[in-house]
Amino acid sequence: MRELPCCVATRQENVPVSPSPLYNPGPMPLSPSHSQSVSFPKRTHNCGAIRLQDQGATVVLNGWVESLRAHGGLTFLDLRDRYGITQVVLDPGSKYSDDVTILRAEFVVAVTGKVRSRPEGMRNAKIATGECEVEALDLKILNESRVPPFEISRTDAEPNEEIRLKYRYLDLRRREMQHNLLTRSAIVRILRDYLNAEGFLDLETPLLTKSTPEGARDFLVPARKEPGRFFALPQSPQLFKQLFMVAGYDRYYQVVKCLRDEDLRADRQPEFTQLDIEMAFIDEDDVYALIDPLLARLFKEIIGREVTLPIARMPYSEAMSRYGCDRPDTRFGLELKDVSDAAGTLDFQVFRNALAAGGTVRGIRVSEGGTFSRKEIDECEETVKKFGAKGLAWLKLEAGGAKGSIAKFLGASGAANLKAAFKAVEGDLLLMVADSTRVALTALGELRLHLGRKLKLQDPGRYDLLWVTDFPLLDWSEEDKKWNACHHPFTSPKPEDMPLLDSDPGKVRARAYDIVLNGIELGGGSIRIHQEEVQAKVFSRIALTPPEARSKFGFLLDALSFGAPPHGGIALGLDRLVMLLVGASSIRDVIAFPKTARGNCLLTDAPSEVSEAQLKELSLKILSPEPGAQGGVEPC
Ligand code: AMO
Ligand code: AMP
Repeated sequence: MRELPCCVATRQENVPVSPSPLYNPGPMPLSPSHSQSVSFPKRTHNCGAIRLQDQGATVVLNGWVESLRAHGGLTFLDLRDRYGITQVVLDPGSKYSDDVTILRAEFVVAVTGKVRSRPEGMRNAKIATGECEVEALDLKILNESRVPPFEISRTDAEPNEEIRLKYRYLDLRRREMQHNLLTRSAIVRILRDYLNAEGFLDLETPLLTKSTPEGARDFLVPARKEPGRFFALPQSPQLFKQLFMVAGYDRYYQVVKCLRDEDLRADRQPEFTQLDIEMAFIDEDDVYALIDPLLARLFKEIIGREVTLPIARMPYSEAMSRYGCDRPDTRFGLELKDVSDAAGTLDFQVFRNALAAGGTVRGIRVSEGGTFSRKEIDECEETVKKFGAKGLAWLKLEAGGAKGSIAKFLGASGAANLKAAFKAVEGDLLLMVADSTRVALTALGELRLHLGRKLKLQDPGRYDLLWVTDFPLLDWSEEDKKWNACHHPFTSPKPEDMPLLDSDPGKVRARAYDIVLNGIELGGGSIRIHQEEVQAKVFSRIALTPPEARSKFGFLLDALSFGAPPHGGIALGLDRLVMLLVGASSIRDVIAFPKTARGNCLLTDAPSEVSEAQLKELSLKILSPEPGAQGGVEPC
């Protein structure tokens, strides 16, 4: 009996999950041991389809060799495609079209065989085809494979991500990635079915366009025929979808790529996908009434969860004061408390100064946090300092009195006052920041998340959806010394707040909303300004002069003057939605061909240099050709 090569015959212990990053697959040896003919037996079934009722049938399977095991004189071949795995039984003593002794993982084969029931005790309940197997009558090798840089079937450890991205087409063969992409496709199908049934039109918008105002840096494309001029790739289809409304296409959607040159994180890519929606003759309630059942349907169909409708709503001001964050993770408590009154009774200069300067003292009560070590409290202090706080005052409430960094300032009633303000009990830890309201809330919001992670309070099995509403319209930028639009400058102010645009711009609320899931912003949108004069007023508030406004958005201002209907919409981040529904920790795991955290594509090696001739054609010159240096281009 001939033995098959052992490289994939058994799962080996201590096999590195991926070879060195210097993995070099080398040339592929051309094997003469299989026919090179182009015709092959085409599959009658996919590798996930065969069931016991097919017993006795002759079938053809096409797929990839997942693994080979020699056992009892026979060879068991697991054949894989994206539908599943079927066990094929080979008899190495039999004569097949091709030499089965050269088979290895990832070879592509066509198997003709007979379906039979697996013997009792050999059944595999974990796979859909696990009650049967295919006894090979013939096997044809359709293509060979080099030894892959990581074992595709291995599920006990993740291969190194750089290697996964470089050989993405192999990574995408892995079961987990297939699950993610198939789920992504199912989600998009549900979204489209829902919106089509609701009378929405799927309309496209241009990729080569003018800068759009989502606040990130643009990717630019030089215009060859107009030296020195550039297209911008869209950060979103925002302005075009508004133009559709002006044009009368009152229900629009698009599953669309958006491009933003911004710093990347686990939930941010330079190129990502939105489900973009716009509607005319609507208000905020119409948006909630559309999106609530859509999310409920997705959760039901994709993860079998019921969403209680309507989805909860919370104004921005409440989200900030309770959670220190405009996208709160409401799966756990540890809410922030305003303890300014009690803190003011202490003889502690830091608190008094902050309050005298119009600031605040806010804090978090950690139930039974009295057990925190000094190191754990120091970590809390580092967290708030990273977000602008000057320090963290802390107190442990113990049987013999209060201990902590501000114990010596408590005086006669300080401890009792704080205990009452926090509704605290013995054994609790009180953590406080005194500062401007903005710094105190932001720093404590981050501390709350730090504590949530540390104390494992974020239940991964829970899905908390929340609408955050009534965002501020404008945000003061110390850096630019001017007001900026919080969402984008086409967002409508609340009509009742319009007078504040002149008197107290920071207090103007916007008709803007975000949908948040477990502390991640899934989507955002607003009711838009549809009157030219209101738009002009908002532009002037963000220090956009009329000539600047005309040069940037003249086409929109014109459109608003030709009978623009009241309108509004929303965009959901599709990648984030899929990431949360499949339980991935990075959006890279739900995007077929993502960029690295540095914005590169390891598969194609983009971005890459271009030839002198191409630059010349575009009238461009590279200012600094040093690799890795901050380069730049100038029109020549
Ligand atoms: P916004 O800028 O809030 O709104 O974007 C909407 C949603 O898109 C997702 N998102 C991202 N996902 C991955 N990587 C990124 N870099 C990234 N940036 C944003 C988020 C976000 O909530 N035109 C408006 C929508 C509107 O007003 O209708 C817009 O783009 O999930
Ligand atoms: P000190 O008297 O400077 O040692 O400070 C006593 C405690 O107050 C320390 O725990 C500091 O971290 C904390 N602290 C300092 N500034 C602030 C602040 N702005 N808010 C809260 N606590 C602070």
